[in-house]
Parts: sequence; structure tokens; C-alpha cells
Amino acid sequence: MEQYVIKGGTPLVGEVEIAGAKNAALAILAAAIMTDDTVLIENLPDVRDINVLLEAISEIGAKVDRINKSTVKINGSTITDISVDYEYIKKIRASYYLLGALLGKYKHAEVPLPGGCDIGSRPIDQHLKGFRALGAEVDIDHGAIIAKADELRGNHIFMDVVSVGATINVMMAASMAPGRTIIENAAKEPHVVDVANFLNCMGANIKGAGTDVIRIRGVEKLHRAEYSIIPDQIEAGTFMFAAAATGGDITVKNVIPKHLEATTAKLLEIGCIIDEYDDAVRVRAGKKLHRTHVKTLPYPGYPTDMQPQIAITLTMAEGTSIVTESIFENRFKYVDEINRMGASIRVEGNTAFIEGGKKLKGARVSAPDLRAGAALVIAGLAAEGITVVDDIVYIQRGYECFEQKLRSLGATIERVSTEKEIQKFKLSVG
Ligand code: UD1
Repeated sequence: MEQYVIKGGTPLVGEVEIAGAKNAALAILAAAIMTDDTVLIENLPDVRDINVLLEAISEIGAKVDRINKSTVKINGSTITDISVDYEYIKKIRASYYLLGALLGKYKHAEVPLPGGCDIGSRPIDQHLKGFRALGAEVDIDHGAIIAKADELRGNHIFMDVVSVGATINVMMAASMAPGRTIIENAAKEPHVVDVANFLNCMGANIKGAGTDVIRIRGVEKLHRAEYSIIPDQIEAGTFMFAAAATGGDITVKNVIPKHLEATTAKLLEIGCIIDEYDDAVRVRAGKKLHRTHVKTLPYPGYPTDMQPQIAITLTMAEGTSIVTESIFENRFKYVDEINRMGASIRVEGNTAFIEGGKKLKGARVSAPDLRAGAALVIAGLAAEGITVVDDIVYIQRGYECFEQKLRSLGATIERVSTEKEIQKFKLSVG
């Protein structure tokens, strides 16, 4: 088990290059197997989730040729198995995108029920409802979802909840279902649009992605494509809050500022100074941070994946802030950890009441999930003294070269794996 050991108290200053969006990449890699031609995908983030999905794709028989850390070639013509192993699903929930991809292409898919980050109960009823509407028979047998159809056909589908995963999964299957599919109450996240753009590059006919009505005309075949994934808005937002929380000045580069609007708006509200460029955003921490209220919502609302990062920053802002989590019910598991660093957060139901103005102090804390883990690292960088963050395997799932990027901004942070190394770090930083 590895840890991050951090000496906090230094403002982070400089420029940081943002990688491709993990959540877009996961769906795009799955979709890439839907053609028998070779697909080239660029701007892939080099993170654990992506590497596990590539293993799963190669395990079912596709050719995966990793040209370098951010580029891969995939050829799905050699797929021999429509059944995905539980090993992969256990590690990354998003391997369920292989359901939509395999079902669209082969009209048959078998994928175990997903696990993933424990941030609340995560049903997939809307995915299954969509597949059924497209004419598939869907059964659950021995913990696996089996979706099968003699023939898929387009249909009119109304999603009961706004779901990124269900929108993408159903869009993939529908892109090869003869006839017209309309998905209503669709998710509008930038990665939904990115996956639609990628499928369209392969010859699909998808219109309206990015609005809440997506119209798809099924095509018989998809073809070769070359595609570059959009920048990761959550990685970018995490560094933006790192600037705010440490009193720093960070320019995040290789971003689409439009995708960061909800985050930018909150940073302005709490007193930061923001400069937007074509493909970069500079965040300068205000002299004083102010309180605010925030509620997580589907895009273009404030993202649930940025909830722990803002909450941790608000522990240092003047006044009482309220953070409401409306997407996942179990996303406050970091609160006990941050309170051990001197914060004062009280959780009632899906709402956190944050008494601000606290000076955080280093402590030993544990990352409960991916985004909360990153937020605890930010807290450690802002805190006085030494912080040790355990269970960083969660953070490695979604942040490329996290500690290297932080170090390039002036952070004192090391990745270690023994108590001896922690002691050595403590001695070396005094
Ligand atoms: C994706 C992201 C995740 C992000 C989330 C919300 C990936 C790999 N993960 O997760 O990082 O936090 O979007 O932006 O892209 N729901 C149902 N039934 C369903 C599906 C979802 O009730 O069939 C509910 C969920 O419990 C949740 C809400 O809908 O309350 C949104 O979930 P969803 O958008 O599907 O999240 P994911 O796609 O799993």
C-alpha cells in the first residue's frame, strides 16, 4: 500500500498541463471495439482505470497497441468473447460500457454487475431499461448482466433520472440499432458529447448530444477513425481548488474553459481572481476566501466530482458554508478525516455545514474514494505540518502523475510505501 506524505503550507504557483478526460476515455475505448477497422485514440490519460479497461478489452480478443502513454490503437475485428471477466468490472465500474458496445455490435453481451468507488448505491436500471427498449432481452444470471437480441431496433426512451452512464451506454448500442432512437432526459456532460463525436467520426449518426434530447439513426457498420479525447475538467478543477486552498496562483493548460464554468463561478464567489484564455485558465487565490453555498447537479450544474475539493477549501473560508450533495448519497466519507485535520464540518443527510475560518493541521488520513482522496491531498498541501494520506490507490485511478504535477507547482510531496520512508521524509523536511 502506498501513501502520499506531504509538508504543507506552501502556496502552489506555476503552470500545469491537464491530461485527457478519464470519464470520456473510458467510454470511447469501449466504443472503439464497435468497428472491425483500426481506431487511433489520442490524449488518453495514463491512469489506472484506463489501463485496466485496456486489459479488459484485450482480454476479450481485441488488439490493443499502446503506442505511447497517451496514444493507443485498437482493433476489434479479432474479438472472440462477448463475456467480460469479473476481475475488470470489480476494479472499474465503467467497464459496463462494454455492454452497450458489444450489444450494439454483436447483439449479445455478458458483463458482471459493476462495483467501483463506494460513493453510494449505484443502480444501473436506466441502462437496462434502455437496452430493453432497443429490443434486447436482459437477464441477470450469477451476478452477470446478459443482454441479447436477435435484432435491435430504434425506440423512444425517456430516462427516469439524468444518468451519464446510461445515456452513453444506450447511445452506443442505439448507434447500431436499425431505425430511429430518441433519448429524452439525456445527460449533457461534456464527455457525453465527446463520445457522440467519436461515434460520429466512426460513421454513426447522432444528433443533439449536449442537449437533453439525443436523436440517433442506427447505422449498419462503423468504420476507422482517429480521435483526440477532450481535456479532463475534473483534473483541471482539482488544480484550480489547489490554487485557492493554498493561497497560490496556478494556470491550468490544455483545458476547455467552457467546461469549467460551474467551478470558475464558485471560485469567483469565494474571492479568487480568474483569467480565462482560449485553452487555459489562471486561478489566483483571493487574499481572503469567502463562504458560499453549493449544490451538486448534473451538467451544467456544479459537478459532484468536484464536491470534496470545494468543501475542503471552504473549511478555510470565512463564515459558514453549506454544501448539498444531490447525486450520490455517500459522498461525505472524507468529512471525519478532514475534521481530524482541524476542520469543522457537520453532515446531516445530504448536506454538509462547514464552519469556516479554520487553520488546518497535518494529520494521518485515509482516502475514501478517488475525488475525496485528491481533496485530502489539497488539504494536506494547505495545512501546517506533515500530512500522510493512506489508500492513494484510489487517487491513482484518475490522476495522471499527480505528485509530479504538484511538485512542479512547488509542493513538497512524496509517494512512499513504508513507515521508514515516511520517517525519512519527516526528517528531510525538518
Ligand atoms: C459518472 C462518472 C462519475 C460522476 C457521475 C455524475 C464515469 C465513469 N463516472 O458516473 O465520475 O460522479 O457520472 O456526474 O463517467 N442512476 C440511477 N439509475 C441508473 C443510473 C444512474 O438511478 O441506471 C442514478 C445514480 O444513482 C446517481 C445518478 O443517477 O444518483 C447519476 O448517476 P450517473 O450519471 O449514472 O453516474 P455514473 O455514470 O455512474
